[in-house]
Amino acid sequence: MKQSQTTQFSSSPTGFGGLRVVSLESRRSRETVRLIEAAGGVAIAAPSMREVAIADNPAAERFADGLLHGAYTSVVCMTGVGTRYLFAAMEKHHDRADLVRALAATAVVARGPKPVAALRDLGVPVSIVVPEPNTWREILATMQEAAEGEDLRGAKIAIQEYGIANRRFVEALEHAGAEVDCVEVYRWTLPDDIGPLKDAVRQILARTADVLLVTSATQIHHVFSVASKLSEEERFRSALLELAVCSIGPVSSENLARLDIAVDFEPSRPKLGILIREAAERVPRLLRRKRERLRKSCEQAVSPTPTRATTDKNVPNMNDRLEQSAFMLACRRKPAPYTPVWLMRQAGRYMQEYREVRARVPFIELCKRPQLAAEVAITAQEKIGVDAAIVFSDILLIVEPMGLGLEYIGGEGPSISRTVREGSDVDRLREVDPHESLGFVFDAVRATRSQLSADIPLIGFSGAPFTLASYIVEGGGSKNYIQTKSLMYRDEGAWNEMMSLIARAVSRYLKGQIEAGVQALQLFDSWVGCLSPADYRRYVLPHTKAVIDALPAECPVIHFGTNCCGLLDLQATTGCGVLGVDHRVALADVFERFPNLAVQGNLDPVALFSQPERIVEAAGRLLAEAEGRTGHIFNLGHGVLPATPVENVVALVDAVHELSAA
Ligand code: CP3
Repeated sequence: MKQSQTTQFSSSPTGFGGLRVVSLESRRSRETVRLIEAAGGVAIAAPSMREVAIADNPAAERFADGLLHGAYTSVVCMTGVGTRYLFAAMEKHHDRADLVRALAATAVVARGPKPVAALRDLGVPVSIVVPEPNTWREILATMQEAAEGEDLRGAKIAIQEYGIANRRFVEALEHAGAEVDCVEVYRWTLPDDIGPLKDAVRQILARTADVLLVTSATQIHHVFSVASKLSEEERFRSALLELAVCSIGPVSSENLARLDIAVDFEPSRPKLGILIREAAERVPRLLRRKRERLRKSCEQAVSPTPTRATTDKNVPNMNDRLEQSAFMLACRRKPAPYTPVWLMRQAGRYMQEYREVRARVPFIELCKRPQLAAEVAITAQEKIGVDAAIVFSDILLIVEPMGLGLEYIGGEGPSISRTVREGSDVDRLREVDPHESLGFVFDAVRATRSQLSADIPLIGFSGAPFTLASYIVEGGGSKNYIQTKSLMYRDEGAWNEMMSLIARAVSRYLKGQIEAGVQALQLFDSWVGCLSPADYRRYVLPHTKAVIDALPAECPVIHFGTNCCGLLDLQATTGCGVLGVDHRVALADVFERFPNLAVQGNLDPVALFSQPERIVEAAGRLLAEAEGRTGHIFNLGHGVLPATPVENVVALVDAVHELSAA
């Protein structure tokens, strides 16, 4: 039996079990030490922050001087906390009324609701409020709009920063001709005595520490600045690979991700006590697994790689173990020792562990928390023993950065607002830069890849242009696609414009997933089966092909659709290497018709509601249809349904392995 007992959500009675835990917490340092010790750990306290006196902010002072002398044309307030802090610092030496008057003579730009609230409380009139998603691109675009052109020559702009300056924003402003001052107000600095922090860095370097607890984003920058004072930044970064890095919540995890540090654990709620309690339960096993994987990959790195000869020459960067996995071999239509199997929607509501996570965290938030998303994806892969994991995310997240609203309403599925119904609506769709707006997916890919077994490939995915367009136009699921097809038939120009914009977004998004570490991709065109072959050829095929053409040839692309019996010939010309089919077609026919493609499918998901013996029989029948041909990836015809008994899923996966291994 291939089933491995998952440990992800179970607790350990011994707590940290003597692991050495570094805490960077300052204000609550003593309490943290007590909690670590009570949870069975050995505490290494390394306070990393000291609050800076408000008066002691030279950047704020310089800014106030410039402001009162009328030096700035615009002031950009990036964060609420930072804006308040900047004011507090300036008010040490100046009257608020003078500052407010001087600001009123400039264009005050608020990046989002938090700086708006702070400015309102301070009595500062706001000239420009930046629309969502409030990235630097929107700030720049709104400022250019206000200047009635792209040219910002002659503008002198101050940007209130908090933490790290956004280099790309500054460069873009300078490129537009503006002169930029970054006003970095700090609330925190290193402690007076950095001895304990240096000592903790040394222990991490010497591998005498096991766990790092990060309880605020600033701590990470401080510990790195100490490592760099010791000229050990790079060694420190690699030493962290051997530790369990525990982050208190999404903000510190995001900062860690920006520094390329994978977070191993994030608690269910961002509270110190909960962090330590839950970390004590989960970290010992997690760390064992992490170190085991590291050991294996080191052994591999030093051993010769005899498998090289059997892999494609054009995939030099892919790890051999992944390349030799049954799933990757099947994707490339090479002989595999058994038929690989994974299941669409394998991480989902049919699984108790998933429901437990969802009881605490809303779906969209779960997708936006890389560490949690990684855990959900890996738990599913391990629990049912499938041969590939799929990134935990959803095809619809890409519609948010296009400027549409997205909600998942319990029991009713997704709901999209600000839908596109006619040509003029297409004009307001925004070009998507996934690195800017979907970075959390790339972080989830990195987190999943780093914690997943070294021989299990990770599949990235996106919705295909038509299926995404259908949501963007209908606003949700649909029976007859009346709105979508109406736009398509009535205004072909607008349709093509929208499909091209989606296709550009999707190809950038998929490329980003490859760069972040996926081994294969699936393009879901779940609803394209509602089209006639002629309409598919005219309105869809060029766009889907454009997506696949833009991807590197060595990364296998699985192109999946449902109800596509009449479209398969055309779908096979999209450039995909693997055709994903549903249970409405005979697998043997598909193999015969497309001898140059690998085939994924195609057990009816409802077959999983019968008895395990029947499931084994059904798996056997499908394998017989495939006749052991190379290039078969076993899957369902559509996703696992929420009411499916999990033991039946495990029975299916085991049956596929046992019956095909002969
Ligand atoms: O293991 C996995 O496959 C997880 C990753 C994944 C999800 N959605 C998570 C999810 C993937 C690959 C998808 C793809 C997806 N999403 C498709 C294409 C596949 C298909 O089923 O045709 C589509 C059309 C969507 C859009 C979508 N997302 C719908 C229609 C729904 C609601 C209906 C439903 O199945 O719940 C979602 C929500 C969704 N996406 C859930 C999950 C686990 C359930 C959310 C919850 O926990 O309540």
